[in-house]
Amino acid sequence: MRLTVIGTGYLGAVHAACMADIGHEVLGVDVDAHRVAMLGEGRTPFYEPGLQETLAQGVGSGRLRFTTSLREAAEFGDVHFICVGTPQKEGSHAADLRYVDAVVDELAPHLRRPCLIVGKSTVPAGTTSRLDVRLEALAPEGADAEVAWNPEFLREGHAVEDTLRPERIVAGVSSPRADAVLREVYAPMLQAGVHYISTDPTTAELVKVAANSFLATKISFINAMAEVCDAVGADVSTLSEALGHDPRIGRAFLSAGLGFGGGCLPKDIRAFMARAGELGVGDSVAFLREVDEINGRQRHRTVGIARNMVGGDFAGRRIAVLGATFKPDSDDVRDSPALAVAAAVHREGAAVRLYDPQGIENARSVLPQIEYVHDVAKACEGAELVLHLTEWAEFRRIDPAVLAAAASEPRILDARNALDAPLWRSAGWTVRALGRPAPPALPNQQATAPVAVAYSSELG
Ligand code: UDX
Repeated sequence: MRLTVIGTGYLGAVHAACMADIGHEVLGVDVDAHRVAMLGEGRTPFYEPGLQETLAQGVGSGRLRFTTSLREAAEFGDVHFICVGTPQKEGSHAADLRYVDAVVDELAPHLRRPCLIVGKSTVPAGTTSRLDVRLEALAPEGADAEVAWNPEFLREGHAVEDTLRPERIVAGVSSPRADAVLREVYAPMLQAGVHYISTDPTTAELVKVAANSFLATKISFINAMAEVCDAVGADVSTLSEALGHDPRIGRAFLSAGLGFGGGCLPKDIRAFMARAGELGVGDSVAFLREVDEINGRQRHRTVGIARNMVGGDFAGRRIAVLGATFKPDSDDVRDSPALAVAAAVHREGAAVRLYDPQGIENARSVLPQIEYVHDVAKACEGAELVLHLTEWAEFRRIDPAVLAAAASEPRILDARNALDAPLWRSAGWTVRALGRPAPPALPNQQATAPVAVAYSSELG
């Protein structure tokens, strides 16, 4: 089939490369001529494991091309995938749909052949119906085009495998023809047994925001438990593990730490709250406000614990930061908790040196005030405290004994609960983590005299 993929960011570039990989002829479209030129040469404009190879293969095979022209796209495609951004609106929680709208507005007048426009971006429920009306108004008389929604669930860092081997495909369609077209696009996946859920477009739009809301809720739940663990001296990692063995709960997304960031979860839960408010059901998702607040609190908590570790004041302290990206295996620093902490520590007067395996360039463009270095040892040289803020595999392989010699004080705050704390402690480090007691976690030797309590028959 002949597909166009409009928008070549983290979502679109991966989708375009993977669609070419499964045999389609693909034309990627972007307004950014520099990006289009790079992609056209088979070079990725951002870091995503496996993308470089898939992209280069697609371009090399002749099945994958890129352009800046939506007119060319209209003439080429049987199916047009919309993969442009839906950022948070300035000064509001709602999603800014101007880029999605612009695609339909600019594409529609050029449509001359039967086609399906398929949205993949995350949008508020009701967007497809609105775009259908727009398309109807702008497409030439008799143009045979309609809009469907097919949300994307890929995770950055695993985007290629998630696209080629998705856990499910959700097709929000308004006609049997649209359903048949999407089944044809994804035929290799369907043959491999991937679940295909065909539904109306509004339900499909809602699946995506509901999924992201649930994931965000899980993370904030475990981070709230980490706060309780800190207060009572319990261990949130063991708690997660024990909860996770219950198949009704599951271990995934129960890693406590600095919280979620990135270009999706934070803005998506806010846009969902805004949309639910417009629909008159704001109370139904009011809990998401708490999810968002718990998430933001982890950044403050981390800064507070770090401040205490250096004696209550950051002024003049040398702080090493490991990690800038919002998660490992990505160069994305959008709404990165790591960078927010680094910025706060710097604001309070610390000299901050940061190392990240892939995110330095992006980090520098949003936080130019701090110093960036190109390896762990350099970041930690003379440091009075090390902050581990993004759990790259490289950081788990650090030899703490070697690093102890570089630091001026062997003190580390593991804000991702990802390092082997006993190993670091045995190498002489003072280790703090979120939601985990500082050792020795021995049974309380000076137990207070037992207090007589009256047993109650109440449950609870
Ligand atoms: C997310 C959804 O997972 C994906 O389905 C959707 O398409 C886009 O949004 P992504 O933002 O790429 O994907 O990353 P994800 O792996 O979901 O992580 C999001 C954030 O949550 C990261 O900052 C990560 O560090 C954090 N996280 C994740 C936790 O703090 N704890 C966890 O247990 C899991």
